Amino acid sequence: MSMIHVLYENELWLPPLLDALAERKLPVRPHFLDGGVLDLAASWPAGVWINRMSPSSHTRNHQGGVTYTRELLAVLEARGHRILNGSRAFALELSKIQQDAALRAAGILTPHTIGVVAADAKAAARRLSPPFITKHNQGGKGLGVQLFRSYEAFDAHVDQGGIEHGSPDGVVILQQYIEPAEPYITRVEIVDGTFLYALRSSTEGGFELCPADACAVDDAFCPVGAGGKFGHDPTVTRDDPLVQRYIRFLDDNDIALAGIEYVTDAHGRRYTYDINGTTNFNSTVEDQAGVYGMRALAELAARTLAEVDQRLPAAK
Ligand SMILES: Nc1ncnc2c1ncn2[C@@H]1O[C@H](COP(=O)(O)OP(=O)(O)O)[C@@H](O)[C@H]1O
Ligand SMILES: [Mg+2]
Repeated sequence: MSMIHVLYENELWLPPLLDALAERKLPVRPHFLDGGVLDLAASWPAGVWINRMSPSSHTRNHQGGVTYTRELLAVLEARGHRILNGSRAFALELSKIQQDAALRAAGILTPHTIGVVAADAKAAARRLSPPFITKHNQGGKGLGVQLFRSYEAFDAHVDQGGIEHGSPDGVVILQQYIEPAEPYITRVEIVDGTFLYALRSSTEGGFELCPADACAVDDAFCPVGAGGKFGHDPTVTRDDPLVQRYIRFLDDNDIALAGIEYVTDAHGRRYTYDINGTTNFNSTVEDQAGVYGMRALAELAARTLAEVDQRLPAAK
């Protein structure tokens, strides 16, 4: 029987999706992944695959799940399986460099971004003028995000070994800091080519801005959640030209769902800096907006499953 297969590694983020799939009485099989055996001669069960693997898996000792999923997605695609957020989406999920390159190619404004791989970070930083920030190339949850207002402060940080044990892929990101005109960033949630809503996330408490409810209690790296940090932003609508660009961007890059973040400077320029394919929806914001992301994803999964069932036995 064909079913919906969910690839994941964080138990805490799974229930909202499983609940939404259960509401529609869809057959579901979750696959926890922190590694595994990939037998290229084996066949894979029929159905739709939803990739919910997190780029911050390594913080829960599950980096093997990221590596395994990357290869599995390629295998599934080669065999004709349908995946929501497949290999192209996952490549962007795992690399802020690839995100920036794709956003720029789409004509979307981004902060000046530099990747440093086993090279002199201090010299690389001179390509930017302060303030600038560091990040992990493979991140999430604000990992490795630190603000520097002078080269000296950055140099001292490097000298103390501050950027050595960062991203699992060894890529350090240096990026122009965009001073927010007001103390929040905006995140636009899109599922299946449809704008759901935008939310504001306060920047006053720092850089760890994962909106998942589960992070509120259980993840030391992500101490925010249903509290006062997030709110629905009704001023951003479907007709906003940037939202329209995002929708086209996700379609062009085969991304079924994502939360895309931008920061607005004092001149009203909006810089896009983060695409979250494994997006988590905040229940407080969704109650305010009256729109529910996991229901939209479940609807997409149901439709895709029906399409797959119609053309069986295409995939192997
Ligand atoms: N270029 C930037 N200018 C200003 N603030 C930024 C910039 N990049 C990131 N931030 C702040 O840091 C937070 C985390 O950065 P982000 O790139 O979203 O990393 P992650 O993928 O870990 O969420 C953002 O939500 C925002 O508040
Ligand atoms: Mg972010």
